[in-house]
Amino acid sequence: MIKPFAGIRWRVLLAFLLIIGLSFLVMAGTLTNMLGRYLFEQRIRADRASLEKWAVQAAPFLYVGDMDALSQTVAKAAEELSGRVLLLDADGKVQLDSFHQVYGARLQYPQVVSILLSGQTADYGVHSLQSGEAANLDSMLPFSGGDEWVSYSTAGLIHSSRVIGVLLLVSSVAEMMQNLYTLQDNMLLIFVVVAAVAILAGMVFSSVLTKPIMAMTDVIRRMSKGDFAARVQEKGSGELKHLAAAFNSMSEKLETLDQSRNEFVSNASHELKTPLATMKILIESLIYQPDMPGELRSEFLTDINAEINRLSTIVSDLLTLVQADSHNMKLQREKLSLGALMKEGVHRLQPMADAKQQVITLSLQDSGDMYADKSKLRQVVYNLLENAVKYTQEGGTIQLTLQRAGRDVMMTVQDNGPGIRADSLPHVFDRFYRVDKARSRDSGGTGLGLSIVHQIVTLHGGSIRAESEEGKGTAFIVELPLHKG
Ligand SMILES: Nc1ncnc2c1ncn2[C@@H]1O[C@H](COP(=O)(O)OP(=O)(O)OP(=O)(O)O)[C@@H](O)[C@H]1O
Ligand SMILES: [Mg+2]
Repeated sequence: MIKPFAGIRWRVLLAFLLIIGLSFLVMAGTLTNMLGRYLFEQRIRADRASLEKWAVQAAPFLYVGDMDALSQTVAKAAEELSGRVLLLDADGKVQLDSFHQVYGARLQYPQVVSILLSGQTADYGVHSLQSGEAANLDSMLPFSGGDEWVSYSTAGLIHSSRVIGVLLLVSSVAEMMQNLYTLQDNMLLIFVVVAAVAILAGMVFSSVLTKPIMAMTDVIRRMSKGDFAARVQEKGSGELKHLAAAFNSMSEKLETLDQSRNEFVSNASHELKTPLATMKILIESLIYQPDMPGELRSEFLTDINAEINRLSTIVSDLLTLVQADSHNMKLQREKLSLGALMKEGVHRLQPMADAKQQVITLSLQDSGDMYADKSKLRQVVYNLLENAVKYTQEGGTIQLTLQRAGRDVMMTVQDNGPGIRADSLPHVFDRFYRVDKARSRDSGGTGLGLSIVHQIVTLHGGSIRAESEEGKGTAFIVELPLHKG
């Protein structure tokens, strides 16, 4: 069982939320900040330009000490700039105030001081109305709200290149700040909506992603219980489809393997049962007929011996095949001559051929010197030759040839026997396959000989094929690479 929140589903969902949430926050933060800065800069530029215009107008009146004209100018400026305008003298003392509140007070605002000290013509700042504390834009953003902020713009009154006074404009930035706060709130609202959409999209996406994986897990469970016919659906595209396809091809292989294993076991048991049954009958006759004539008794014993020989051949053939299947079959290569092995094979089978008045001819155009497994190649030659002798009628001929074919040697075992039907030809290398079941069983065949030959030749890196024409004969052609060690 998967722990809650540990599955891919939750991880995808979390990743979705994190990515979308973070990028939204960064985007929203940057946007609000940029907008705030832009608005402030616009405001600063506009305030400065107008205030400097009024400062130029007021400078000659201050110089000559025309307070009436000055007070009119200040009132007009305050009206036009919709703020509070103060006129300060060169000591920073308030001379005029459009709000008529602070006369004679000395204002120590940095904007005022910087104009008076440095001779600069204009300055700007934002202060908290409640605390009077100056703020810079960075600390004001993101906005915390609650405090009301005012901007202080200053412009110097210049006469003969000397600062003789300062115009101070105090105007509320509350409206602008309010807009920014609203924008911030809206962003938060949008963030909640976006997060909800992200969760939904994440859920849909993760279920699309995990569904095939769950389906596959289900099929794996069924297969582990022995249902090899189970397959997953190959839907969609991309990696998951490839995974499903690879999985299905693996299941197909497993199914075939399981089937062929069952077939193998049932065929093998069947083959072992026949000689055992025969032996049982013979032995029972020997037991229950103690006064059996000696001649019959020894005939029975000879038959039992033959059945035992057959059993042991089948068992050793099966062992060879099983070994090859589990890739345990190791070749013990040594220097050998395939020609010599063929000669030896003919010699061994000559009595059997003689009994059927068959003629075996051997034509060696190459010695077939190579590095290979002697006992296994001996088995190849023997099995092919044995088949030829066994399935060819009396008086037939069998021709063995060995020749070079490029970097390979080619061994051919040709007979003029009954041949193999075209529909059976592709199956002769299958395990337990016999063309004519009854007939080849009579001649002692199990149908394993050619499959063993095929295994051995393949293991040596060679190939084998059969060519046959019904009624005319069969040829088995083996090609082996000349492994020089
Ligand atoms: N030279 C041949 N001519 C005609 N049929 C052949 C020849 N060689 C093989 N066959 C057919 O191919 C079948 C498979 O041969 P294979 O050698 O694998 O088995 P087998 O001879 O029946 O049994 P085993 O070799 O295990 O004792 C044979 O049963 C036979 O029907
Ligand atoms: Mg055979």
